[in-house]
Amino acid sequence: MRPALEFTRKQRQLIASFAVVYLLLLLFCHSNSARDPTSFFFQPDVGYRPQRSLQRIDESIQYLSTFNHSFTPHSTADQTAPTSNVDLCIGIVTVKRPLQQNLDQTVGSLLDGLTPTQRRRVVLHLLIAEPNPGDHPTYHHPWVSNVVDRVLTYDDVDAPQSTIRRLVRNKLINKKSLIDYKLSLDACYDHTDAPWIMMLEDDVVTQKNWYEPTTRSLDRITEWDERDAVADWLYLRLFYTEKFLGWNAEDWRTYLGWSVAAVLSAAVAGITARSGRPSLRAVLTNRFLAVICLGFVPALIALYFLSGRVTMHPMRPGIHLMNRHGCCSQGLVFPRQKVPLLSEYMQEWADVRHSKPVDTVIERWANENRFDRLAVSPSLMQHVGAASYKEKKKAFAWEGSHRVYGAHGVWSMSFEG
Ligand SMILES: *[C@@H]1O[C@H](CO)[C@@H](O)[C@H](O)[C@H]1NC(C)=O
Repeated sequence: MRPALEFTRKQRQLIASFAVVYLLLLLFCHSNSARDPTSFFFQPDVGYRPQRSLQRIDESIQYLSTFNHSFTPHSTADQTAPTSNVDLCIGIVTVKRPLQQNLDQTVGSLLDGLTPTQRRRVVLHLLIAEPNPGDHPTYHHPWVSNVVDRVLTYDDVDAPQSTIRRLVRNKLINKKSLIDYKLSLDACYDHTDAPWIMMLEDDVVTQKNWYEPTTRSLDRITEWDERDAVADWLYLRLFYTEKFLGWNAEDWRTYLGWSVAAVLSAAVAGITARSGRPSLRAVLTNRFLAVICLGFVPALIALYFLSGRVTMHPMRPGIHLMNRHGCCSQGLVFPRQKVPLLSEYMQEWADVRHSKPVDTVIERWANENRFDRLAVSPSLMQHVGAASYKEKKKAFAWEGSHRVYGAHGVWSMSFEG
């Protein structure tokens, strides 16, 4: 006897209808989750397609080119000031990148949307982290001294130059990055009275209006702080990648619990319906209930998980707690009071034998001190660099069809809009 014949005509129709609906749902999820890196249906070519970031790159280059003459009458920068009465000191460490420089995009996108009043509230520091600053391809571009408030070299920040030269020679990137980050943090701390210190990598672009949501969020958190409504926190994250915000293994109990609950509720609903309406008794047989609970419902649950967490539980715009899985260190704002101890901690890690990348060290310090870490959604920055040191790639080939190729996964989907 064929199993299908064990079902009545009505039941077979229901199974067929479910199959059709499920197929349609599957097609919908397939396209709806194409941009979600936490989904089984993620398509890199769609998900890493730059939209907003390309526009921002063009805008920032255009903005900077107006300052890119050796004589610029309305230079916004003044190497001696402003150091007091500012809200935000921005520190950017820049090195000669092996494949591509994005510094002009970072600086241009940071400044092109600021009103003159906002610009006066911000100090921009650039640390040219090359033992010979002239080696940096952008160092001699005229716009640098015209728009950056303080262009720092190792000579200006009292850097341990022989150590740095040795680290460069031995390609100890992690240690050098820690020292550079520390020097840049210290420069903002020592030379300005800014209550907030923002550290950016030299391969990001920002949203045109980044300033307003950033300061609004900081004000908001300060207010919470005053009411003791927030735990001690280390930074506000302006860039995050959704890639690591998927269904995380440590939450498996929650996922299993809800899945079992869904199956049980389907069973209870079926049994209740059957006892209440005798007409359903012929359809909702025990065998058919088993098909629903062990076939239909698990298939729907599977589709739910395959669709990806970012699709099913999108982050609301605003401030979020992101103590885990917040990657990477492209854009972080630290409260001034945290800087001296963080700087000390980074120095300790620069001195140990087996060092760690900057973002790992920051997270470690936060974990040791149980500091909360906050993030702004949607992401105000995008990572447009061609390669990341994290990948340890020796060479880089343009994969895919986009000029900015998803920066190899360190990419914010929410930035692109
Ligand atoms: C600025 O000028 C230099 C040449 O002096 C050029 O290589 C660079 O592309 C220019 N940058 C921008 C942003 O216009």
